[in-house]
Amino acid sequence: MMKAETVAIAVERTRTKKTKPAADQLGFGKYYTDHMVMIDYEEGRGWHDPRIVPYQPIQLDPAAKVFHYGQTVFEGMKAYRTEDGRVLIFRPNSHLERLNRSSARLSIPPIDERLALEAIRQLLLVDEEWIPEAAGTSMYIRPFIIATEPALGVTPSRAYRFMVILSPVGAYYAAGHGPVSIHVEADYVRAVAGGVGEAKTAGNYAAGLKAQEEAARGGYAQVLWLDGVHRKYVEEVGSMNVFFRIGDTVVTPALTGSFLAGITRDSVIRMLRHWDVPVEERLLSIDEVSEACRSGALREAFGTGTAAVVSPIGELCWQGDRIAVGDGLTGPLAGKLYEALTGIQRGLAPDPFGWTWTLRE
Ligand code: COI
Repeated sequence: MMKAETVAIAVERTRTKKTKPAADQLGFGKYYTDHMVMIDYEEGRGWHDPRIVPYQPIQLDPAAKVFHYGQTVFEGMKAYRTEDGRVLIFRPNSHLERLNRSSARLSIPPIDERLALEAIRQLLLVDEEWIPEAAGTSMYIRPFIIATEPALGVTPSRAYRFMVILSPVGAYYAAGHGPVSIHVEADYVRAVAGGVGEAKTAGNYAAGLKAQEEAARGGYAQVLWLDGVHRKYVEEVGSMNVFFRIGDTVVTPALTGSFLAGITRDSVIRMLRHWDVPVEERLLSIDEVSEACRSGALREAFGTGTAAVVSPIGELCWQGDRIAVGDGLTGPLAGKLYEALTGIQRGLAPDPFGWTWTLRE
């Protein structure tokens, strides 16, 4: 496991601490802690001036490239408070490796993952009292990088800022951890192989908003994207990867490069293999899913993601048909995965995979 770098990170503490929200008010991404991380980059100088400052608006030149050409990447990971008072971060190395993979696709220079991890570690220590402890809550950690050079030419920026903000969160969906309804998108396309679909970059999410808005009007929590070429193969849901339990096998779309290689997706695959549950990563057409639904072979469907954890899918809407998945309730495997994963994340169960990283060693 990668260790944090021991580097001096300047800390300026706030003089006006905010009031902390009650655990049952958290929702997702509504509240932010008292501090944040900033690290700057300039060509020829590299990443420099790591610092923790009071949470505040930032000033940027209106010509900063991030505003015009969307040169930006982000991550989402979580820290959990355990019953015995420790704080565990889930797979931070994997998230920071993916941040650098996303950056490489967007022509953003890599950041030293140990420096980024140390900045996150110190920020969590400064704002430790904000980490919620109630079941179903956690501290969502949002690192991101923006292109800051004020220049309108379409070339990679020569200046960037890495930032980390923290948000105490509960469930991602308004429905809590219960089953969600998903609209299968037939008209809009999110990404194609060779594009930036695999990168965690703002444009992918902006590209999905219109379809999501239309699906929300029909009462659906999210959109299930099909591949952009054949409009046939299932890819991912807006904020989560997707799994289908067909007969005794769990099937999830193979990573084709046009959607996110989720870290929770990888964790779930490894847990299923550990339990000897057959898992297939392969092309999966929407026709196969709807046929499996009709024949009764589709026993469960669920999404996975840092924010969504393991979210059961109770219903799919495809070409105007509302298809109930199984009995429409949380399936036993989705329930077991949720309990097992959050058990590891919260330190309630052993971590045979070495996924958790303790804040205070
Ligand atoms: C996450 O699960 O961390 C995500 O980034 C999904 C979404 C909130 C954008």
